Amino acid sequence: MFVLITDMEKRGIIIAIDGHSSTGKSTFAKRIAARYGLVYVDTGALYRGVTLFAIRSGFISEAGEINGERLFKELPNLRLRFGQATGSSGSELLMNGRIIESEIRGLEVASKVSIVAALKPVRNYVDAILKEYGVTGGVVMDGRDIGTVVFPDADLKIFMTADPKVRAMRRYREMVARGEEANLDDVLKNVIERDYLDENRENAPLRRAEDAVFLDNSDMTEDDQMLWVEKLIEKRWSRKEN
Ligand code: DC
Repeated sequence: MFVLITDMEKRGIIIAIDGHSSTGKSTFAKRIAARYGLVYVDTGALYRGVTLFAIRSGFISEAGEINGERLFKELPNLRLRFGQATGSSGSELLMNGRIIESEIRGLEVASKVSIVAALKPVRNYVDAILKEYGVTGGVVMDGRDIGTVVFPDADLKIFMTADPKVRAMRRYREMVARGEEANLDDVLKNVIERDYLDENRENAPLRRAEDAVFLDNSDMTEDDQMLWVEKLIEKRWSRKEN
């Protein structure tokens, strides 16, 4: 009989999932967390939280110009943490104690977050929060630089991608389902632009870690991906018991 990740082993495990935007990283990471009893940490949400804070504080203009000096000075007073709202099954991002989940998913934050996430002091701020989760382990994190910068010694690294057109269609459908106005060409342009920004920024650009397992899910369902990762985890962690 094969025994998968025991409680003892699970305690320290860090699974890092990096990749392009709209590849379904968070859905995948959440399912892995639920399947193996790990904690899911949405690292992009923290960058979105900082962006919302910058917008609300007037540190970022409509055109996307940032007053870095003021933002960096205020960062130590910003408290971003994950928590659980009453009646909710998942974890929500809280800013100074207030849930900001829906605000950070809006278009305004989405259009500015790449610029904010490129700033070194912002990355240091987020990395410090993430490293706290690493102390106890037992986590699945999704982001852009988890396996390369934040946890280069992660136990399992997965790099996710999919055809830009497939990703644009997925995001377009999500937007329509939420009742938002959407134009497929604009969404595709945004996907390509975000890839470029993520891959070409100076600080912690999106890269596939050498030891990351590659997953192109263009033609895969969510269930296909779970089967794929279960096999991978089985191979890596299961041991034979008589
Ligand atoms: O995964 P997401 O779309 O919620 O990420 C939001 C932004 O944050 C995106 O521009 C990439 C950036 N990000 C990052 O730079 N590093 C991470 N570890 C996670 C997200």
